[in-house]
Amino acid sequence: MAHLSLRDLSVTYKTSRGPLPALGPISLEVEDGEFVAILGPSGCGKSTLLKILSGLLKPSGGQSLIGDSVIDKPRPDVGIVFQQPTLLPWKSVRENVLVPVRVLSLYSEAYRAKADALLEMVGLSSFANHYPHELSGGMQQRVAIARGLIHEPNLLLMDEPFAALDALTREQMTLELQSIWDRTRKSVIFITHSIPEATFLADRIVVLSPRPGRIVHTEKVDLPRPRGLDTMTSPSFVATCDRLRRFFAKAEGATL
Ligand SMILES: Nc1ncnc2c1ncn2[C@@H]1O[C@H](COP(=O)(O)OP(=O)(O)OP(=O)(O)O)[C@@H](O)[C@H]1O
Ligand SMILES: [Mg+2]
Repeated sequence: MAHLSLRDLSVTYKTSRGPLPALGPISLEVEDGEFVAILGPSGCGKSTLLKILSGLLKPSGGQSLIGDSVIDKPRPDVGIVFQQPTLLPWKSVRENVLVPVRVLSLYSEAYRAKADALLEMVGLSSFANHYPHELSGGMQQRVAIARGLIHEPNLLLMDEPFAALDALTREQMTLELQSIWDRTRKSVIFITHSIPEATFLADRIVVLSPRPGRIVHTEKVDLPRPRGLDTMTSPSFVATCDRLRRFFAKAEGATL
């Protein structure tokens, strides 16, 4: 059974200037353990889509389901990394990472060690007892990534999680996410503006049109796994990126 189903999903925001169609309708099936990247121009409705899948926003039309259960509220088996880090300012970095397990009443001492291991993975071991305001934007986003993984969600939703990172850290985090995914094979919806990042990580890339975002192209990525830095220079990687780039150049108004 498909793990995640989007069926004729659409969102129209009510604004003071009238209705604003932001997304869809879109339909998509994401298989259990599949890594799907979503590429689309700014303002096409990508974050809106993620808010629906996280159960924080109701669609205006259609529905999304995990298995056969409709997503209508936040769920414990979903992890979310928002475009903005949204850390709790009064909690330490470690406590921020532990928020999902506290909210889900799963906390045990083992999670403290897990939080520290995740902080090490994102390069923030020595900041576990610091507070968010003492961290840069990129560091805060890395805390949010650790927080999204702490409870080992079956579905991980990531909204441009690496956008605030410098190029080197971004590359490192991309490799790290790949290896986490390879170990755990959870379903991931990964939103990005970066064609190489999408190509490197995904099993499938879904391209959205300008607002209201609709699926205009789907690209299966058959590069062998595990993928490493050498993947990025392989002819088939370069060809996939090229195809996607040309697709954007062709589609009027669809600049990334
Ligand atoms: N709460 C809201 N109320 C009204 N309009 C909204 C709201 N949130 C988003 N929008 C509008 O919906 C459209 C889609 O916004 P969204 O944030 O989903 O885009 P996005 O694809 O994530 O863009 P970006 O790549 O810049 O992050 C935009 O035109 C935006 O102005
Ligand atoms: Mg967005």
